[in-house]
Amino acid sequence: MKALVYHGPGQKSWEEKPKPVLQHPTDAIVKIYKTTICGTDLHILKGDVATVTDGRILGHEGVGIIEETGTSVSNFKKGDHVLISCITSCGKCVYCRKGMYSHCEDGGWILGNMIDGTQAEYVRIPHADTSLYLVPQGMDEEALVMLSDILPTGFECGVLNGQVKPGDTIAIVGAGPVGLAALLTAQFYSPANIIMIDPDESRLAVAKKFGATHLINNASSNATNSINQLTNGVGVDVAIEAVGIPATFGLCQEIIAPGGRIANVGVHGKSAEIHLETLWSKNITITTRLVDTVTTSMLLKTVQSAKLKPEQLITHRFKLSEIMAAYDTFSHAAESKSLKVIMSNE
Ligand SMILES: NC(=O)c1ccc[n+]([C@@H]2O[C@H](COP(=O)([O-])OP(=O)(O)OC[C@H]3O[C@@H](n4cnc5c(N)ncnc54)[C@H](O)[C@@H]3O)[C@@H](O)[C@H]2O)c1
Ligand SMILES: [Zn+2]
Ligand SMILES: [Zn+2]
Repeated sequence: MKALVYHGPGQKSWEEKPKPVLQHPTDAIVKIYKTTICGTDLHILKGDVATVTDGRILGHEGVGIIEETGTSVSNFKKGDHVLISCITSCGKCVYCRKGMYSHCEDGGWILGNMIDGTQAEYVRIPHADTSLYLVPQGMDEEALVMLSDILPTGFECGVLNGQVKPGDTIAIVGAGPVGLAALLTAQFYSPANIIMIDPDESRLAVAKKFGATHLINNASSNATNSINQLTNGVGVDVAIEAVGIPATFGLCQEIIAPGGRIANVGVHGKSAEIHLETLWSKNITITTRLVDTVTTSMLLKTVQSAKLKPEQLITHRFKLSEIMAAYDTFSHAAESKSLKVIMSNE
């Protein structure tokens, strides 16, 4: 089969790899139908994620059709349409039993990281019973690809950890797919103001369409000054960091109001400073989280009822075999105006 393979920082290729086979009775082999590229894949290609080694097939998002199941898989059978969660969970270990699937002792974020991922014609999914979701009949499978990672990530790491409440003023730093997913799902809680901060005008324009009340282009203006003006010098109740660089984590610390919550979502490859000399007395909370995908079923229902319309995030479509071009488009988002790119294996 063909797959997108990582060969060290800056190096990737679309090449022939052996088709995966069942390794454990709890595995399933899934034929990929649709997959996508994540901002985290770009971090991997920058060399920011040390666990990803030469030869790894990338990708942790997608929908597909079950090709084969191990003998102890009972929830799924050949031919079922399934949503692949970016997080693999055994459902049994101490972490899984408390809903922290991201730290599953035999799973967590392993797809396209420690084991081969979804940017391929086929993928092996360990613990299939608890790591896949059946696609309800008639659902838009492209929209569902947004549920593998970015919607639960924006919601769990950003909105839930930031404890967004009715009437809050929130700032989301980074209007990429994850920041926009936080913007969409924050509106479940009716915050009064949602300020989006990004240097890319076209992404800010999308944010406006998705419900942002204020936009700040921090390439052409000073975001801290703009927030001070908007909030009478108080700052924001919630600052969601959805970029993953020291500068944006620093910005969140500058704009947070007393009692506020900074919810880090970004994957960081470099150390970032925490300014306790200004924050120690401000009663703030800083959270970090690897997405648990513990809200996937709930989010699926909101997509089914069209309360949430994640297909709005899809800007480009490719064949799976055109994945190198898809990476090019996704990694030059400012020029291509891309958000999520969908690759189809038909
Ligand atoms: N914690 C988790 O479990 C988890 C899961 C998935 C993704 N992530 C991370 O979330 C982050 C966002 O993912 P994405 O797919 O949206 O990435 P992306 O690269 O598509 O988007 C990042 C956005 O940040 C903007 N940006 C860049 N520099 C900025 C700056 N100085 N100030 C403000 N905005 C700036 C870019 O213009 C872009 O719109 C990444 O770091 C990704 O690795 C974390
Ligand atoms: Zn991801
Ligand atoms: Zn587990």
